[in-house]
Amino acid sequence: MIVVTGATGKVGHELVRLLSEAGEQVTGVSRQPAPLPEGVRHSPADLAEPAGLKAAFDGADALFLLVAGEDPQAILDMAKVGGIRRVVLLSSQGAGTRPQAYRHAAAFEDAVRGSGLDWTILRPGGFTSNAFAWAEQIRADRTAAAPFGDVGLPTIDPADIAEVAAVILREAGHAGRTYELTGPGLVTPRERAAMIGEALGAAVRFVEQTREEARAQMLQFMPEPIAEGTLAILGEPTAAEQRVSPDVQRILGRAPRTFADWAARNIAAFR
Ligand SMILES: NC(=O)c1ccc[n+]([C@@H]2O[C@H](COP(=O)([O-])OP(=O)(O)OC[C@H]3O[C@@H](n4cnc5c(N)ncnc54)[C@H](OP(=O)(O)O)[C@@H]3O)[C@@H](O)[C@H]2O)c1
Repeated sequence: MIVVTGATGKVGHELVRLLSEAGEQVTGVSRQPAPLPEGVRHSPADLAEPAGLKAAFDGADALFLLVAGEDPQAILDMAKVGGIRRVVLLSSQGAGTRPQAYRHAAAFEDAVRGSGLDWTILRPGGFTSNAFAWAEQIRADRTAAAPFGDVGLPTIDPADIAEVAAVILREAGHAGRTYELTGPGLVTPRERAAMIGEALGAAVRFVEQTREEARAQMLQFMPEPIAEGTLAILGEPTAAEQRVSPDVQRILGRAPRTFADWAARNIAAFR
């Protein structure tokens, strides 16, 4: 049995579907209930309260773990008590490139590496799905606002992250590896807005925000170090942050999905 934490999220929901379709027994964990594919057990629990994970972990073999809660060690101890032998951590590119800003993810990585379990770490860059933040404004007046309009990053489709995770959770040969997950090429915010416009069949106007405007918006839903780290990646990415990784291609045997593909599949949110 495979436990998927964050089972109702953009990565987790797709992962649960893939594993279930492949015939795996799956338990999905999230704090709030939400519809999961038929046959998937939902176990409500909070990663911030590891003692409450017992029911989810009992009798499981493998765990897909999110960075959430403050005590990764306690989560992994509960996993071992439940019989789990393999863990795949959904970390973040920033844990490698900016460990100070991303110390939460870096702490989870350290705990996973020292756990004694078969571990694999996934370090995705920014998700294509972050463009959902534009949905309301694009629906209202066909406008998308973001800082650093001409800085390209190789954003990754969460569906590709889920597909990679499904392979690693089911297949031997990935223990002790850290994979960098990116899309197939650099795409700027201005280009992303234009691609949504193409999928819509209507022009989307791009408005460049100042760093301060973007920072104020980010602080509404992320802690300050993460907001600062994210702004640094968006505005002054390092060579490592702009590098297109070969890992999705190596694991899936195909190129990662493009931003245009993501926009076409999710265009209903922008209509
Ligand atoms: N977006 C990016 O650009 C980016 C880049 C690199 C890494 N990441 C990482 O990827 C992760 C997953 O992204 P996503 O887009 O799939 O997230 P998402 O769509 O926001 O979903 C998060 C999922 O995790 C669950 N969850 C959140 N806190 C939890 C907790 N304390 N205990 C148990 N479940 C919890 C949520 O359900 P409930 O709220 O009901 O609990 C939901 O199922 C992020 O958390 C982030 O660490 C994101």
